[in-house]
Amino acid sequence: MTTYKLLLLPGDGIGPETMGEVKKVLGWFNARGTASFETEEDLVGGCAYDAHGKAISDEAMDRAMASDAVLFGAVGGPKWDGVPYDVRPEAGLLRLRKDMELFANLRPAICYPALADASSLKRDVIEGLDILILRELTGGVYFGEPKEITELGNGQKRAVDTQVYETYEIDRIARAAFELARTRRGKVTSMEKRNVMKSGVLWNEVVSQAHADGYQDVELEHMLADAGGMQLVRWPKQFDVIVTDNLFGDMLSDVAAMLTGSLGMLPSASLGAPDPETGKRKALYEPVHGSAPDIAGKGAANPIAMIASFAMCLRYSFGLVEEADLLEKAISSTLDKGLRTSDIAGKGESAIGTSAMGDAIVAEL
Ligand code: NAI
Ligand code: MG
Repeated sequence: MTTYKLLLLPGDGIGPETMGEVKKVLGWFNARGTASFETEEDLVGGCAYDAHGKAISDEAMDRAMASDAVLFGAVGGPKWDGVPYDVRPEAGLLRLRKDMELFANLRPAICYPALADASSLKRDVIEGLDILILRELTGGVYFGEPKEITELGNGQKRAVDTQVYETYEIDRIARAAFELARTRRGKVTSMEKRNVMKSGVLWNEVVSQAHADGYQDVELEHMLADAGGMQLVRWPKQFDVIVTDNLFGDMLSDVAAMLTGSLGMLPSASLGAPDPETGKRKALYEPVHGSAPDIAGKGAANPIAMIASFAMCLRYSFGLVEEADLLEKAISSTLDKGLRTSDIAGKGESAIGTSAMGDAIVAEL
């Protein structure tokens, strides 16, 4: 039996509370005996700054690099508002992303039947929805040079952002998309704007080439990104994996997230390049939400985003598809039973706490 090495970085605010529920889930899987998980834990964010003056220590970074995957809670809070810029809590997450070269950001949109009526879209449009947006994270217009505002001398200014993509950057995200689609329903939709952007022309070409190079078992479709935005709201179930650049991905993943609901429900992952020898990718899994200082320490946080992030880890880092399905079904049936934390409780519904929600999911497992 393979043993997987996980580094847990609970962080600040509700991070340790929600990570505590993942530890219960890990305990259940270890007792079940079909896969074995070894965990180490370290500090990140404000708590790390308090302990040793840095948002993440070199030792914690080494442990992250040596792990099979990192589970990250959340960082930050008003307590650290005044700390110097380069050691602020977020710097811990930024260093992890940079040193692990996490270029692929995965944001699923899953609609649990019990919560389908909480969406702003009609039930039949989103019930059963399970799509994955794959956003390129380290290139594109957010990083391209030149990036500046210049004075034109006539009272006017000129602002420039530059969208730059090179072949290797598009190729590696395309391959990641095809590999992810293989663990799902086998379809990739690539979105760009080749009608008005040169980077879109290259994007389209490189994705098609990667497809031809060894992923022909996966269905590939190209769509202009603006039309893709419309389709995402009109009939999202037509998609499986959507792959797109940093800017379009930023917008489309936020749209997709809100198809299905609350911040406390949304998991995410970031992947790096495969190791040339083992094929394993560096990976970090984290909820989309932050440290929620307004409810921290009250035992009220919804642990589902964190637990669902671990389900993604099972599926995408370890290929433990059966285990991932089990965990996602346990979340779904817990919701079917009417159990809600306060963030997802409807009018007149009573709410349970973080720990009770974690216990209920483990009981369902
Ligand atoms: P937030 O996501 O922490 O909270 C926004 C609202 O959603 C709050 O009312 C909060 O109570 C609620 N919420 C969030 N997660 C929840 C959960 N699991 N269960 C129930 N309710 C939940 O975002 P906000 O307030 O903008 O930022 C708070 C702190 O978190 C800041 O210091 C910010 O910098 C940091 N942050 C950290 C992130 C990270 O670690 N990746 C991401 C976003 C913010
Ligand atoms: Mg965004």
